[in-house]
Amino acid sequence: MLNMNTGVIIMLDRKLLKMLNEQLNREIYSGYLYWSMASWFDANNLKGFAHWMKKQAEEEIDHAKKFYEYINDRREKVEMLPVEAPKSSWSSPLEVFEDTFAHEQKVTEMINSLVDAAREANDHATFEFLQWFVKEQVEEEANAEEIVQKLRFAGDSPSVILMLDQALGSRED
Ligand code: FEO
Repeated sequence: MLNMNTGVIIMLDRKLLKMLNEQLNREIYSGYLYWSMASWFDANNLKGFAHWMKKQAEEEIDHAKKFYEYINDRREKVEMLPVEAPKSSWSSPLEVFEDTFAHEQKVTEMINSLVDAAREANDHATFEFLQWFVKEQVEEEANAEEIVQKLRFAGDSPSVILMLDQALGSRED
């Protein structure tokens, strides 16, 4: 894209730009997936779990916005790709959170591939930008795994599931 101040064309590595755009899409997809999970919890009257998932979905849209602004700051045009329809039905809260954990592990792999691509392109700014996501993924995986563990301990106990529902309903951000 043309830099209007200097007239110099600043190029972000094309493969890296494509990957950044795809990651923006995957973050939106993550939000979409978590909204779908929230809707399953709402339909099953587990309002605390639903609340937790809605907060998670909002966080993913914030992640997508970070990619949007970064691509824009690099004076490139953001491309909005089609968003895949997420899964919409689960057999238990445990299955939902197992899927959440598996999804976050996939996102971590994607972020790591982006870091590798930034390194290959010798793009220090993108490498630096991605470090926030590297740290965020550690937290994302840990949060999801902690809930998976608790749900495994809960087994089929409705009272423990309801206690967890209440606890997750207090998530603030
Ligand atoms: Fe944006 Fe949950 O990773």
